[in-house]
Amino acid sequence: GKGAPLAGLRALVTSGPTYEAIDPVRFIGNRSSGKQGHAIATALARAGAAVTLVCGPVALPDPAGVKVVRIESAREMLAACESALPADIAVFAAAVADWRVAQEAPQKIKKPAEGGAAPTLSFAENPDILASIAGLKQGRPALVIGFAAETEKVAEHAAAKRARKGCDWILANDVSAGTGTFGGDANTIHLVTENGTEDWPRLTKQQVAERLAARIGDHFGKKTT
Ligand code: C5P
Repeated sequence: GKGAPLAGLRALVTSGPTYEAIDPVRFIGNRSSGKQGHAIATALARAGAAVTLVCGPVALPDPAGVKVVRIESAREMLAACESALPADIAVFAAAVADWRVAQEAPQKIKKPAEGGAAPTLSFAENPDILASIAGLKQGRPALVIGFAAETEKVAEHAAAKRARKGCDWILANDVSAGTGTFGGDANTIHLVTENGTEDWPRLTKQQVAERLAARIGDHFGKKTT
């Protein structure tokens, strides 16, 4: 019905930061709040989709009516996403660390004696979860959506990212200084698809999520009728 445009569809959403362990007590993380990804999971569920939300450590409650899988590292996020397939829709809103610490120390790294050398960390590249799922030869979700946080030439850089990642849509947002997007409640989105760019007005993250859910409903509606 009209109230459940995504009924019968399965959705995978990623949200939040990843934490990459240095040792048993320390990690490298980032300031992603998870607000946008969680709002998208909520909106897709309210539109009738069966939603799995794979999320890093966030201070947010689990969205109602959503299956939540909590992970910490990028590699755990990829494994949880693969386990959540098959899905018709995949939205990658997580702020995944590009790098992990190459050798996680099995014990807490001790402060060296006075005058001792500071430790150094070396890094290994993390998997690109969006690109991995978008590039699946079998079981690729029909609609794969990524985000691009840009500070300049937003639509142009996002179109290049869409091609590079192999996804269908990119939601590009301007995170340049002063926009208050990161950790804030509002977003200015440019939706980049195969047909070009749609500029959305400044919206709250909840409004972005609802508009995206409606746009996804239109997309599947057009394809099936
Ligand atoms: O390359 P960049 O980090 O700007 O790409 C952002 C998009 O790719 C987001 O949708 C993000 O969730 C996704 N991504 C990912 N795995 C990574 C890096 C980014 O899924 N390792």
